[in-house]
Amino acid sequence: MQLGIDDLAFATAGRYLDLADLAPVHGVEPAKYTVGLGQDRMSVCAPDEDVVTLAAAAALPLVEALADDERAAIRTVLLATESGIDQSKSAGVYVHALLGLSPAARVVELKQACYSGTSALQMALALVARNPEQKVLVICSDVARYDIGSAGEPTQGCGAVAMLVTANPRLVAIEPVSGLHTSDVMDFWRPNYRTTAVVDGRLSLRAYTDALTGAWEDFRAQGGAEFGDIDAFVYHQPFTKMAVKAHAHLTRLAGAPRDAAVMDAQIADTLRYNREIGNSYTASMYIGLVSLLDHATEDLGGSRIGFFSYGSGAVGELFTGVVQPGYRAHLRTAAHRRLLDERDRVSHAEYLRIVAPVNPVDGGEHDVERLTRGPFRLAAITGHQRLYEPTTAAATAVA
Ligand code: CAA
Repeated sequence: MQLGIDDLAFATAGRYLDLADLAPVHGVEPAKYTVGLGQDRMSVCAPDEDVVTLAAAAALPLVEALADDERAAIRTVLLATESGIDQSKSAGVYVHALLGLSPAARVVELKQACYSGTSALQMALALVARNPEQKVLVICSDVARYDIGSAGEPTQGCGAVAMLVTANPRLVAIEPVSGLHTSDVMDFWRPNYRTTAVVDGRLSLRAYTDALTGAWEDFRAQGGAEFGDIDAFVYHQPFTKMAVKAHAHLTRLAGAPRDAAVMDAQIADTLRYNREIGNSYTASMYIGLVSLLDHATEDLGGSRIGFFSYGSGAVGELFTGVVQPGYRAHLRTAAHRRLLDERDRVSHAEYLRIVAPVNPVDGGEHDVERLTRGPFRLAAITGHQRLYEPTTAAATAVA
């Protein structure tokens, strides 16, 4: 029996900052971002958008496509994030309510920097292996924020990806072997009292590459596929150039021929959406998968994809999946393209204005400015509670 991803969609904020508008503020050429980092734009959350609204927006089309009995088969919701909105309550419980899922479900939040979505996927596969009648909704949702003016600022972004994990999946069957690597390193973290990440940029690049080495060596030792039997590679993308660097590293490590055209073809389609969205932490690698499936001109049915998931701190996992024949009939390519094309470009001044508000801590009644065009919004923070509501867009969600 095959287990894997049966349905897949992403969501992002309704606004973006073009990095050409950030470069002069940092006193650098735009090419540093567009060429050096491989990023053109970054999605910017409005005050009424957060990991809950993004997660619910990503999952809505998947849930809407299910018949009632199929919805009831979702007995587990796993929400992976490193920009959670509560120290105790899972963001997934809010999402579960917004989606109207059955109360007969378990919901939990997972955390290990950008890696935890992969942990959620592996746990989901184990649950479905135990009972193939059940479906697990895995959602990765994050808002990447660094200090204004810091080197990390151009690598911000936000997004969520929702995956329905089932037996006999229509999109990608995940293979059983994983290569794992964990090492205690302080390359990127966010203490509870901070809203932005702390990062040692240079160390983070080395830690990523070291984790890739460790995960690949473990993957091969565990009997994983040879490099030459993998057709395309999807990497965690803090910025898309990182995936290019990682693929060059893995190609060298595996002793494969370093043919630039071949190497480019193995990753190019995975980079397209992230170039426009920016870092979405847990969601980033899976948005890379959506990008590959949505953009590949040849039919990928039967192709083996290699995945490298990395979360600072640091955990890496390398695994493979096989694209299922007929997958193209189940993609949401037009809706994804529309989502990106319909975003509003904001000026640098407007970007600073909408990212400035900090969550009130006084327990009073605080309405949140109505800005999102997504299907759900954070309406108020009242008595220390975050109050979410559907918008009119929920009625016409992406098909
Ligand atoms: N034209 C073309 N390229 C240019 C250029 C120009 N005018 N000016 C500079 N560049 C190139 C540089 O040569 C460099 O490329 P190479 O690395 O290939 O040499 C690239 O642009 C970036 O330049 P710098 O290294 O000088 O950039 P920086 O020091 O200002 O910041 C960074 C880079 C450290 C990645 C910073 O953006 C950062 O801290 N980002 C956040 C941390 C991060 O994303 N780390 C990645 C690994 S950790 C992870 O993956 C987890 C996660 O999601 C955070």
